[in-house]
Amino acid sequence: MKKDLLKLLDLTGQEINEILDMADQMKYSQKHGIPHDFLRGKTLAMIFEKNSTRTRVSFEVGMYQLGGHALFLSGKESQIGRGEPVEDTARVLSRYCDGIMIRTFAQEEVEELAKHASIPVVNGLTDFCHPCQVLADLMTVREKMTRLEGLKLAFIGDGNNMANSLIVGGLKCGMDVSVACPEGYDPDPRVLDFAKSVTGPKFELVRKPADAVADADVVVTDVWASMGQEGEREARKKAFAGYCVDAELMKLTHPGCMVQHCLPAHKGEEITGEVFEAHADEIFEEAENRLHAQKAVLYLLMRG
Ligand code: CP
Ligand code: NVA
Repeated sequence: MKKDLLKLLDLTGQEINEILDMADQMKYSQKHGIPHDFLRGKTLAMIFEKNSTRTRVSFEVGMYQLGGHALFLSGKESQIGRGEPVEDTARVLSRYCDGIMIRTFAQEEVEELAKHASIPVVNGLTDFCHPCQVLADLMTVREKMTRLEGLKLAFIGDGNNMANSLIVGGLKCGMDVSVACPEGYDPDPRVLDFAKSVTGPKFELVRKPADAVADADVVVTDVWASMGQEGEREARKKAFAGYCVDAELMKLTHPGCMVQHCLPAHKGEEITGEVFEAHADEIFEEAENRLHAQKAVLYLLMRG
């Protein structure tokens, strides 16, 4: 049966770790010029109904490095934008391609696409989650800290797609996860239910950023207004005042604490330029690791 990557909730901690191990191998192969063109002759269709820099480039370059090909379908310019049913798009693309990556609004659209496609579907971000990004984040943390289990991850800001995936991915990999967000901007209830059901790693949802970052090994933040929420920008600026990762907040963390940001960043809002630049190596390594983590996902799902 074909496999998809729709959300981290569908994966076990062991499966996440297997992807991360494969991602490390992909990175090693690429850095050492070891051939790894395992997807020769295969094509990935990439559907984008939202903007992207990293996701588009890393998937396209990743497919090229694996010996395959990627094609870009913009929501607006394809028939998707004119209302062609997702189940028909799924069946058509399954006749031409070997995999589909989709970035869109509703998680349900991705699940529907996967249901009707006979080829693997990968979620490249929805309003609900961003699994590929969080695989890259976990890979980056594991690389620098040599493990995930027992570390504390703090997320500061909106309970958005990134927060949802970090909670699930972090807990599944044995990390304690602490989230600080203003009332009214909590993570998705399905994710909070999952967090409640976890035994072992600790989860907490707090209102004060200082409470979340106490003794943290990794601090993660993301924009206050995600794609699709542009109209709420001003209201969100007010709601999130004080939810900024700054030097004062970083003083409360564990020594050697990392900072991760999926990018793009709004410096001066969710993170100061000072903290961003102090942790730029980690943040851009995280961006690079999108490539390696996704090559692992593509290989594991599309090798046939
Ligand atoms: N982090 C991330 O997904 O970046 P893009 O929106 O540029 O793809
Ligand atoms: N939360 C952000 C992530 C961008 C990569 C958004 O959805 O716009």
